[in-house]
Amino acid sequence: MKYEEALSLLKKNSQEHILAHWKKLSASSRKALLEQIEAIDFKAVKRCQNVLSGKETVNAKKGKPIAPKVAELKGAARNKAIAAGEDELRNGRVAVLLVAGGQGSRLGFDGPKGAYSIGPITGAPLFAFHARKVLALSIRYATSIPFYVMTSEANYEATVEHFEENDYYGIPQDDVIFFKQGMWPAMTNDGKIVMDQIDHIFMSPDGHGGVISALKSTGCFADMRKRGIKSVFFFQVDNPLVEVADPAFIGYHVLNNSEYSLKLCAKREPTEGLGMVVKRDGHFDIIEYTEMTDEMNNRRTKNGELYFKYGSPAIHVFDRAFLEREASKAMPLHLAHKKIQYVNEKGEVVKPDAPNAYKFEKFIFDSLSDAKSVACMAFDRAEEFSPVKNAQGKDSPATCQADLQAKWRRQLKEAGITFPENMPIEIDPVYALDALDIKNTGIFLDCGI
Ligand code: UTP
Repeated sequence: MKYEEALSLLKKNSQEHILAHWKKLSASSRKALLEQIEAIDFKAVKRCQNVLSGKETVNAKKGKPIAPKVAELKGAARNKAIAAGEDELRNGRVAVLLVAGGQGSRLGFDGPKGAYSIGPITGAPLFAFHARKVLALSIRYATSIPFYVMTSEANYEATVEHFEENDYYGIPQDDVIFFKQGMWPAMTNDGKIVMDQIDHIFMSPDGHGGVISALKSTGCFADMRKRGIKSVFFFQVDNPLVEVADPAFIGYHVLNNSEYSLKLCAKREPTEGLGMVVKRDGHFDIIEYTEMTDEMNNRRTKNGELYFKYGSPAIHVFDRAFLEREASKAMPLHLAHKKIQYVNEKGEVVKPDAPNAYKFEKFIFDSLSDAKSVACMAFDRAEEFSPVKNAQGKDSPATCQADLQAKWRRQLKEAGITFPENMPIEIDPVYALDALDIKNTGIFLDCGI
């Protein structure tokens, strides 16, 4: 793109301030800035402006929210689901989809969050636990399980390098597919795109909901179709306890002919920051924790249990065809008011003390209300959920490592292995995914424990 073309495009979109410092720029800065301008989706920019000005609003949901039916699978029902899930896995119809494009700002780690070291003994990173579970399942079911990893523009290279350096954790390279989510500019209150340097437009990832359009634009849906994928297991990078493609969950999804299935866990406390699955007007929907009223958070059943008991930690199974259908729809845009470095009229870089601009994000669960069939399944959070969100305190590396060790201790005990109570423990998923694997492998007995 040439300067004149860029200027006319920007004028048409009232964004000509982007070229305000052109005369001061070097040839290479000019080239890079023109490339950035060319890459911007101005239709999306227009939508962002409409959201800011209130011209585009998320449709207010109608109807009284009620708690949905959540299956607590046990006994024969659980075995039936496991058999159906194992069949799906064995026949190569399952893909694993990890969204890892977030910025991890609360954790404050410099690099892709998946590279954060969490193994209590080996220091293995989050990615290792996820990838080794995919490998373990593909060995157990003698099948190939494609592992799709979404990154942002900012962490793509570092993520790919991380996997290369670690030999893809043993997964055949062709089965690890990296793809990039969209990036969007941020805007000030009056709809102007924020420059963070005189030659650079501030861009940020378009939210985990960006995964649907990215799967389409990067050819991943086509790849899934070619591989015969039907069920897509979706999860987030920060939870190393997650039971990746758990056969019971996959099977429950399949047996219910579900388009969108959710694993849900009992909230730790009424106000815990988990999305709340509700049903209203016959449709499923997720209410963000920030939108739950005190009354809703604290409502109790006759038995004294929380009425809205289960929260969603974003562990899902999607029907692939449903995701493809959703890709042709525009998802709602959510605003986040943030402190974003900017360039003032004089060309000086300013680091604001208070939020000064808006980022725009899409959320995966906004597709829930479009699903024709939904299945909700409860799980025990001690076994499967302990995210690394913050550097310290709740949901931090320390709490996550303690929860990982507690889980492995339970597995060892269940497998009949005795060990000193305070002994540090770490289990590679490829050695054992569960207590039964530990019993069958016997590897710990060989270690003389
Ligand atoms: P979070 O909401 O925890 O955000 O993401 P984050 O960016 O990782 O962390 P903070 O809020 O800056 O501290 C939940 C999941 O969604 C992914 C993240 O990588 C994580 O797995 N995600 C989030 C994306 O893939 N892209 C995004 O644009 C946002």
